[in-house]
Amino acid sequence: MSQAALSGKNYVVTGANSGIGLFSARRFAQLGANVALVCRNEQRGREAVAQIIATTGNENISLYLADFSSLASVSLMADNLLRDIPKIDVLCNNAGGANGSRMVTKEGFETTFVSNHLSSFLLTKKLLPAILNGAGEDLARIVFTSSYGHFNSALDFDDLGLKEGYSTLKAYGRSKLMNLLTARELQLRLVGDNVVASSFHPGAVRTPIWKKGGALARLLGLILYPFMKSVVEGSSTLIWLASSEDRASKGPEGHYFYEGKRAETAKFATDADAKRLWQISEELIAPYY
Ligand SMILES: NC(=O)c1ccc[n+]([C@@H]2O[C@H](COP(=O)([O-])OP(=O)(O)OC[C@H]3O[C@@H](n4cnc5c(N)ncnc54)[C@H](OP(=O)(O)O)[C@@H]3O)[C@@H](O)[C@H]2O)c1
Repeated sequence: MSQAALSGKNYVVTGANSGIGLFSARRFAQLGANVALVCRNEQRGREAVAQIIATTGNENISLYLADFSSLASVSLMADNLLRDIPKIDVLCNNAGGANGSRMVTKEGFETTFVSNHLSSFLLTKKLLPAILNGAGEDLARIVFTSSYGHFNSALDFDDLGLKEGYSTLKAYGRSKLMNLLTARELQLRLVGDNVVASSFHPGAVRTPIWKKGGALARLLGLILYPFMKSVVEGSSTLIWLASSEDRASKGPEGHYFYEGKRAETAKFATDADAKRLWQISEELIAPYY
């Protein structure tokens, strides 16, 4: 792609101060996009903005703050984004992590469920008018960073917050299943609009995530470390889905990708569950919308 290929386009990347989000945001900036970084920590966010400007020379990099464990925080940040950026071309729902033990937020949600799924669901819903503004002749895109971890287990709609049988991998895996299902249902709802929603697995990637998710994540990180992909490799499918001029990245819509190709999903990742999850998520975010 030419250096100015994304010139004039507005990109929003969540979890943009570290790992896959930071690398991808830098690449979009390098290609000329205006990039809004969504981060939870102001200091880390400012450092990411400074680093991207210094390494790309693109000064159109802005910072928005939100803690994804709080729907109120995400809602406020989304209002600020909408005020500043009425036309959004690409939204990368990338923020995410794992939690070593079951915790419940002040708003009453299990932390992984709200941080990895409900918040990106709320953000997407709130930004949709601006994304549809971006979907004129050009394609607008919404990409969710999911994971192979979604194969862990099917959703239990009677216990989405895992009051029973919590484990780090189960909570994480189900939240990543929710990302994949949200992309699929979103695509169905956007039929006829020039918007593509997709999700992907980055691979096991050498990023700080493995040090943040409790003892099990740290142990798994240590074991897998020699076999992990670099951040460059792990970001490639996101960058492709979010910026390629190759029409292959447009279709098949609503699908899940790995290494630049459509990939199999778990058998229990059904359209019926996608629809049901969407309806429940809409009810849960309604007070914060
Ligand atoms: N690395 C892998 O092997 C792998 C594999 C499959 C899927 N993924 C997915 O890839 C995405 C990016 O992860 P990464 O590997 O690049 O890890 P990372 O370097 O830890 O980046 C995760 C980003 O999400 C942000 N984040 C986490 N919880 C948040 C919260 N409550 N509120 C706001 N921001 C929050 C982090 O902010 P802080 O810096 O403040 O923590 C960070 O910016 C995640 O969705 C992850 O689930 C990663």
